[in-house]
Amino acid sequence: MSNVVLVTGAAGWLGGLLAHALRDDPGTPNVQLILADIIEPKAPEGVKAVTIKADLTDKAQINSLFATSLGIPDTVYCLHGIMSRGSEDNFDLGLQVNVDSVRSLLDATRHNGKKNPIKFIFTSSLAVYGGPLPEVITPSTIATPEGAYGMGKLTSELFVNEYSRRGFVDGRIIRLPTVVIRPGAPSAATSAFISGIIREPIKGLEYLCPIGDSLDSPELELAVWLASPQTTIKNFVIAKHISADKFLPHTRVVCLPGFTATIRDELRALEKVAGKGVVALVKFKDDPVNRRIVSSWPPQFDNSYPLSLGFVMDEGGMERIVQQFQKDVATGIA
Ligand SMILES: NC(=O)c1ccc[n+]([C@@H]2O[C@H](COP(=O)([O-])OP(=O)(O)OC[C@H]3O[C@@H](n4cnc5c(N)ncnc54)[C@H](O)[C@@H]3O)[C@@H](O)[C@H]2O)c1
Repeated sequence: MSNVVLVTGAAGWLGGLLAHALRDDPGTPNVQLILADIIEPKAPEGVKAVTIKADLTDKAQINSLFATSLGIPDTVYCLHGIMSRGSEDNFDLGLQVNVDSVRSLLDATRHNGKKNPIKFIFTSSLAVYGGPLPEVITPSTIATPEGAYGMGKLTSELFVNEYSRRGFVDGRIIRLPTVVIRPGAPSAATSAFISGIIREPIKGLEYLCPIGDSLDSPELELAVWLASPQTTIKNFVIAKHISADKFLPHTRVVCLPGFTATIRDELRALEKVAGKGVVALVKFKDDPVNRRIVSSWPPQFDNSYPLSLGFVMDEGGMERIVQQFQKDVATGIA
């Protein structure tokens, strides 16, 4: 084991958090990081790292990730991507990044891991689901996406599974819940409001919620499947350490553990933690396109398979997450 880890999408939110978590992971001693993104990524302090500004839709730039001074990585985290609304609005770019570049990265990983298949950890999403769904999603629920983002993620999942079945790579596909609360500026994700209705008011700013027309709207009963960034990143690291023979024999897909909350539950948690005045900063203008896409995502999963593999889940629900975010804002982390 060289303990060289490649992270794509390393200038993004979760990529940046993952780089820090890998540095601090006792299971990956003396880790060395290759961090790549179309935006110049920043390496965490105290770790040997190479940062590469690369457009991963270009195969030559993908190959350059395997030719750094750190040598061939033994694990690849494939996090780069165009988020949900971005893929819906720019279909061609979504396909180029979420499918074509993932396949090119898989091929490069395959060719560089001929003797020892390289671990390939792919971040997918619950957006792969759509259509009529059972009340609770289980590992045998068929994924039928209703948006370009979910379709792109599912297509790439099939490649990761097939490349794993053939022994080209040692794949791990983790379908993430919606991760809250995302710091920084509002993103292009259809799910951006799920963080925005907490983040902006906590910072003393107004936020326009695209679901419902007022605090009394029945649309606020829309339920979503959530996880905190802290738990999600722990699970990214756990994904690397699970022995390949523990996965179901026919698929490397795992839906990471999460919990269900409605938009109203989120606003109640905000009120409990920060008060009525802060909730009053949330304004409403219903956006049917946004609501249609988010409503097609399943709000409840059976956590037993991921928990049996050793993945972990949030304790304390939405209130704990809002409290943590409030602390992060106060201390300047968020
Ligand atoms: N955040 C969530 O709630 C969530 C939920 C489900 C799945 N995911 C998945 O997790 C991964 C990370 O999510 P995130 O929230 O950190 O996203 P993010 O948007 O913050 O980061 C994605 C990164 O990909 C980079 N990128 C885009 N096109 C690129 C290209 N052509 N070449 C190189 N880099 C490129 C972007 O510059 C960005 O830094 C993504 O694959 C996303 O689909 C995230």
